[in-house]
Amino acid sequence: MAEFKILVTSQKGGVGKSTISANLAAYLSQHNHKVALLDYDLHGSSSKWLNGAPKIGVHIQHSPLPLEIGGGRPVHEAKQKLKRLCYTNEVVVADLTWTDSISAEFLFEFDLVIVPTSVSEIELNATAEFLDRLSWVFQSTIYKPPQLLLCPTRVSHEQMADDSIFKQYFPVSLMLAPAVLEGHSAKQLYMRGYIHDFNDACGSSFREFGNAVISVIAQHKQAHMTHTSTSNLRMKALLHMAARYESKMDSAFVNFFHQNS
Ligand SMILES: Nc1ncnc2c1ncn2[C@@H]1O[C@H](COP(=O)(O)OP(=O)(O)OP(=O)(O)O)[C@@H](O)[C@H]1O
Ligand SMILES: [Mg+2]
Repeated sequence: MAEFKILVTSQKGGVGKSTISANLAAYLSQHNHKVALLDYDLHGSSSKWLNGAPKIGVHIQHSPLPLEIGGGRPVHEAKQKLKRLCYTNEVVVADLTWTDSISAEFLFEFDLVIVPTSVSEIELNATAEFLDRLSWVFQSTIYKPPQLLLCPTRVSHEQMADDSIFKQYFPVSLMLAPAVLEGHSAKQLYMRGYIHDFNDACGSSFREFGNAVISVIAQHKQAHMTHTSTSNLRMKALLHMAARYESKMDSAFVNFFHQNS
């Protein structure tokens, strides 16, 4: 199965990671993807959300990272859990509060990293610093870097008119998602329902955000298929060459055998 792994993360608390993770998993599931939510956070807010709300077909797993152990084991375990979910799911959405004790290389496990941020100047600045520390991952030329999607969250109507986000310098190239608006619905729906089902501004902003992620997944699939069919063609060409080489070798061997017998 061509899987797509999404990590929703930020070092900042309360920016909407769990709200985005739970509702994105639900939205993708409703759009014909086989989805798992992998909640790495101790509090388990995103897994609680999906466990409480009407079932929508998302596989829910709460596996807090044992960060207290230290060393490489927490990330090793996190990778294993991710891998296992990929066997049976098309998309995995992971919810994680980032801490500097996590090795940045963990990000290479993912195809897409979504960083939710509020759009106040102070928070945008903190987000830029966070991305600065991880920038080498997104700029890697040795390993395949994940794509980075910055998602403005809890954005008020007044902030929509504000252009702070465009004034902020970010140290890496990134995609900017449609903003998820602030709405009481987002709070009220916790463990009860899904933001995208709600017909307020917050609900429709979430659907736009979800659609943006769906198009990133579709592009990834397309690129994967092109790559696979190119590799298949290359493999066929190689096999063809090998077959010709083998038959030449056979006749050379036969000639050599005849000449020397
Ligand atoms: N679009 C929104 N509109 C209004 N409130 C929101 C929105 N998104 C999130 N919230 C509220 O903001 C608070 C933090 O959200 P959430 O728990 O998703 O953030 P978090 O980044 O996962 O937090 P933590 O760091 O504690 O894990 C919650 O009270 C949530 O209901
Ligand atoms: Mg959370």
